[in-house]
Amino acid sequence: DGEVYKYYADGEWRASASGKAVAIVNPTTRQTQYRVQACTQEEVNKVMEAAKVAQKAWARTPLWKRAELLHKAAAILKEHKAPIAECLVKEIAKPAKDAVSEVVRSGDLVSYTAEEGVRILGEGKLLVSDSFPGNERNKYCLSSKVPLGVVLAIPPFNYPVNLAVSKIGPALIAGNALVLKPPTQGAVAALHMVHCFHLAGFPKGLIGCVTGKGSEIGDFLTMHPGVNCISFTGGDTGIAISKKAGMVPLQMELGGKDACIVLEDADLDLVAANIVKGGFSYSGQRCTAVKVVLIMEAVADAVVEKVNAKLAKLTVGAPEDNSDITPVVTESSANFIEGLVIDAKEKGATFCQEYRREGNLIWPLLLDHVRPDMRIAWEEPFGPVLPVIRINSVEEGIHHCNASNFGLQGCVFTRDINKAIMISDAMESGTVQINSAPARGPDHFPFQGLKDSGIGSQGITNSINMMTKVKSTVINLP
Ligand code: G3H
Repeated sequence: DGEVYKYYADGEWRASASGKAVAIVNPTTRQTQYRVQACTQEEVNKVMEAAKVAQKAWARTPLWKRAELLHKAAAILKEHKAPIAECLVKEIAKPAKDAVSEVVRSGDLVSYTAEEGVRILGEGKLLVSDSFPGNERNKYCLSSKVPLGVVLAIPPFNYPVNLAVSKIGPALIAGNALVLKPPTQGAVAALHMVHCFHLAGFPKGLIGCVTGKGSEIGDFLTMHPGVNCISFTGGDTGIAISKKAGMVPLQMELGGKDACIVLEDADLDLVAANIVKGGFSYSGQRCTAVKVVLIMEAVADAVVEKVNAKLAKLTVGAPEDNSDITPVVTESSANFIEGLVIDAKEKGATFCQEYRREGNLIWPLLLDHVRPDMRIAWEEPFGPVLPVIRINSVEEGIHHCNASNFGLQGCVFTRDINKAIMISDAMESGTVQINSAPARGPDHFPFQGLKDSGIGSQGITNSINMMTKVKSTVINLP
């Protein structure tokens, strides 16, 4: 009680000189669960300086040694899965089982990154000059990948551990230093994860983790001259960061309005199962959640009925009890979701269930006959509320999908593979899943968004490459 979790700088756990703390409110109890340090700009400067110094030596550390440390951190992370998962349950109301999976998935991700890194970075290129017109073979160009310097990682609340290590692992294997700014909800889980890297024995200063209010240190971090790369996952803040950041590579995964297009010939049981899993797991708080169903009128009634039957079976309650639907992350998030629901009600959507809310807990809700004039047709609720838009042609579905400012993922359900491929080609989104709900994983798959959904591509391989730069040495023969 009264304890404020320390931040991590120069290989040590420290209290901020600010003497101030940021409260983390448990979404279920709506009481303060934990408190973390409100770091000052001066402290951010110190972390940046230490990272810069440590990075120089780390870049010269043999690749196999860097991989060895990452494997060690991955193993420790998995050993600590229970206490970290407990933080996820208390801070972000993630169902207990999913919280454990997040940590295990994170350990696997770090190990895979270490293995992938030694292969990608262990290989360079040799070019000879006489392939370009007018040249003799008197120049040999040796190129390899070198680190960028200090990578700033800003993960979101919904995967405070997994979307942190998906940035930390690639940054470190590639020889970069890493400064982490965890989300407020999820900060303690993230600090515990950082502790696993600490226990693995990474050099002092190479990893820093600062906590605090985005409004106080957010811009200071993202505009800091010591930062050489920013990897961000979250909402609109990413767009603001992209406008303020300097000339550094950016990797961003922002929102999504992932569409699920359902054709008449689809396996309707498969469709219903994926709509429920895709739309409602972690109460819809995933950037890759199904956020709008675009369904051919002929099969709409049947699918809506099947989905409703499954929704009736979802358990609603506390994350500790492994409920399927748990409280959304903050009261303001619940209010936002409610605003979308009220707007849809006023404009005549069909409520398949009664709208019910207690505190931050919102019962699963399917809204049928949603029309384009409703906000929920376009905005992402990030909650357990899913709109169904009935369509009369595939073109209508594709048109709605492409009219969105987002373009993260989408999915199409049909037994006709030719149609599926044509629809996939026509959908303006970073990934299209055929006959399954959108998902980021497996974590080595490329993951990217078009339009307002992001910049660059993630996935283990792409992230390692993105956090490096090509360096050439040319041997000139007489
Ligand atoms: O919330 C955004 C995540 O990148 C989605 O990851 O598809 O594994 O839930 P997921």
